[in-house]
Amino acid sequence: MKKLLLTFALALTTCIAWAQTGTFEAGKGTFLLNGKPFIVKAAEVHYPRIPRPYWEHRIQMCKALGMNAVCIYIFWNIHEQQEGQFDFTGNSDVAEFCRLAQKNGLYVIVRPGPYVCAEWEMGGLPWWLLKKKDIKLRERDPYFMERVKIFEEKVGEQLKPLTIQNGGPIIMIQVENEYGSYGTDKPYVSEIRDCLRSIYGDKMALFQCDWSSNFEQNGLDDLVWTMNFGTGANINDQFRRLGELRPDAPKMCSEFWSGWFDKWGARHETRPAKDMVDGMDEMLSKGISFSLYMTHGGTSFGHWAGANSPGFAPDVTSYDYDAPINEYGLATPKFEELRKMMQKYSDKKLPAVPKAPMPIITVPKFELTEFAPISEGIDKTEVGALRTFEEMDMGWGTMIYAASLPEIPTESQLTADFHDFAQVFIGSKYIGKIDRVKNEKSITLPPVKRGDALTILVEGMGRINFGRAIKDFKGIVGDVTITADISTDLVTKTPDTEMTIKSKRWNLATIPDDYETALKALSAKTNKNHAWGARGYYRGYFNLKKVGDTFLNFETWGKGQVYVNGHAMGRIWSIGPQQTLYIPGCWLKKGKNEIIVLDVVGPREAVVWGQAEPELNKLQLEKSNKHNNIGDKPDLNSDTPVTQGQFKSGNGWQTIKFASQKKGRLLCIEASSTQSGDDVVAIAEIYALGADGKRISREPWTTKYANSEDENGNHTGDKVFDLQESTYWKTIKGAGFPHLLVIDLGGEQTITGIEYLPRAEQGAPGSIKNYKIFVK
Ligand code: GLA
Ligand code: CA
Repeated sequence: MKKLLLTFALALTTCIAWAQTGTFEAGKGTFLLNGKPFIVKAAEVHYPRIPRPYWEHRIQMCKALGMNAVCIYIFWNIHEQQEGQFDFTGNSDVAEFCRLAQKNGLYVIVRPGPYVCAEWEMGGLPWWLLKKKDIKLRERDPYFMERVKIFEEKVGEQLKPLTIQNGGPIIMIQVENEYGSYGTDKPYVSEIRDCLRSIYGDKMALFQCDWSSNFEQNGLDDLVWTMNFGTGANINDQFRRLGELRPDAPKMCSEFWSGWFDKWGARHETRPAKDMVDGMDEMLSKGISFSLYMTHGGTSFGHWAGANSPGFAPDVTSYDYDAPINEYGLATPKFEELRKMMQKYSDKKLPAVPKAPMPIITVPKFELTEFAPISEGIDKTEVGALRTFEEMDMGWGTMIYAASLPEIPTESQLTADFHDFAQVFIGSKYIGKIDRVKNEKSITLPPVKRGDALTILVEGMGRINFGRAIKDFKGIVGDVTITADISTDLVTKTPDTEMTIKSKRWNLATIPDDYETALKALSAKTNKNHAWGARGYYRGYFNLKKVGDTFLNFETWGKGQVYVNGHAMGRIWSIGPQQTLYIPGCWLKKGKNEIIVLDVVGPREAVVWGQAEPELNKLQLEKSNKHNNIGDKPDLNSDTPVTQGQFKSGNGWQTIKFASQKKGRLLCIEASSTQSGDDVVAIAEIYALGADGKRISREPWTTKYANSEDENGNHTGDKVFDLQESTYWKTIKGAGFPHLLVIDLGGEQTITGIEYLPRAEQGAPGSIKNYKIFVK
């Protein structure tokens, strides 16, 4: 009896302790928690990227790093997968995630979007918004705003009881996300602010995050302003402008990038541990708050990985991010170094590093012997005009488009916007692929007879999550045209015939990406002798005596999606760099486990094995990512530069205006010396100014030529127009001057100047001194 009473009393005190209400606000030069100065040391972690059974372990890992808060996005599209149907249960139970943080003594910063970026499908926006074709996203479009408000209300029902004012752990809430990288629209950002204010009340601290180069565009007077920047950045420089505008405001880096995300077809990204730790040490020594993005990245399971733009650069499944806590929840050497540094800023000994919830296991190689061709996954069919996935009411998956061809006696070019990976067949003959990642839009068809069947299989990847291109429809977007250069004696009509396959003649079929569809397909009794070849669903089983985390290797497979025991594990693609998928032990069981792979290309060998380490950096490319083909180098010998001179030293943007405008398609930047005197050149970003003196669109830009590129660190030429100030083109030491970068502007343009941004690191390493610019 006595024991019972005691437990009861204890439970009561814990309750009271946590039910205590508190305050959090911006004070003079610092944040104030319950009236006392407080430096936020937040760990960014994303609940949908961590299996729920592991949530508490990851939270405790953050705690062991000396963090005092976690920072989370709310991912609209996992909570409202179909319009009007909300889900806050299971792995989407964000309130529970916050309660677990509180239970472990951590505060919570919430970033409820509506847009979150995060290398997540469509930046967190639900795909079904695109069913309204003319919708304007992240603007005051009435339908968009109506849906945003309903969503934020629903999130509020979950989280309002958990604000600090109500005795919960939530201390701050973010308004929108890096709006400056999207546009300038204070009325829109204000409306999001007002929506959040009305839900969370006047006392809740609301903030905005942006880059030091663009935060003024949308900065609202009554919000806290925080800066985002990455490992290595010059910290004083990042806060300079904020300090001028608001000398008394607390400083916070709301996203200090520990590493970076990986894209299909490019190397695994890493950032040096020392630079990360030094940056954080510097911030703490100056009383600057931060959130470490990511502290633990986790995994973009299923089809949730997004894609970057300009161009189309889909993100891999792993969101390891080279973060201190790796994808599978373990401490890395970066973790150890960080923990050591963080100990200096804590008067108590940091808690012990918790034990991993599961061991790591291996699985011997086995074959996936059951097979069904991809067409067995067909859900809906329709005959009519071309339609996108969205118009067919399908969020993710693959579509088959088939039409009957007229007679084309010569070779012809088939062109369309294929989103994202198309495979073309005539009859049952495979013609080739059109890959949006490589900016491909067309393919050569052989001569065809009247009535030959054209079939196009289009697989959609993650929707773009960054920049203006987030309105990313899937499937065939727009018309399909076939152009044939037909010599006059063969045609009855005109030479150079261009036809658009419009009309109502397409046979359309959807193949949704989900486990149910895969099961249905595999229950069909079909065999391999099918026009689709090896494209289809594969099933196999593996037996476990002991359950644990493992890394299933897919390097013999083509491209597709994997399901284990009904859990969608993520996308695979032979090109890499990711070749294994993280399979959390909590989703495995003793005895028989099922694996299904949908391979839209077909495997070399339908085998899988589980290894003890992930493989995140093995490229299997047809062609290297470098742009050093000497045949692509324009001959500039007899050209006069449109301008030449010396850049200033130091960080920050510089504008160079030409004396007169120049027309051309190639923008060539030649560097013949650096500020530091060594021979390694780097450029973070370049814009070209058009006839009106404004930045022209970089959407169609590609790298034509670069004499030298440090491909190992992903410092290829395209990094100067990837919209990211923390990524850069860098040459290899010893490659020798002059360095030349040639950008293909996608078409002839009138250029009146350029904007140039050197690296964001202290001293702007690699910054150019003597330059020449050519427009050709
Ligand atoms: C920005 C976004 C984040 C994420 C990072 C890059 O800072 O706000 O959501 O996309 O870039 O990882
Ligand atoms: Ca860049």
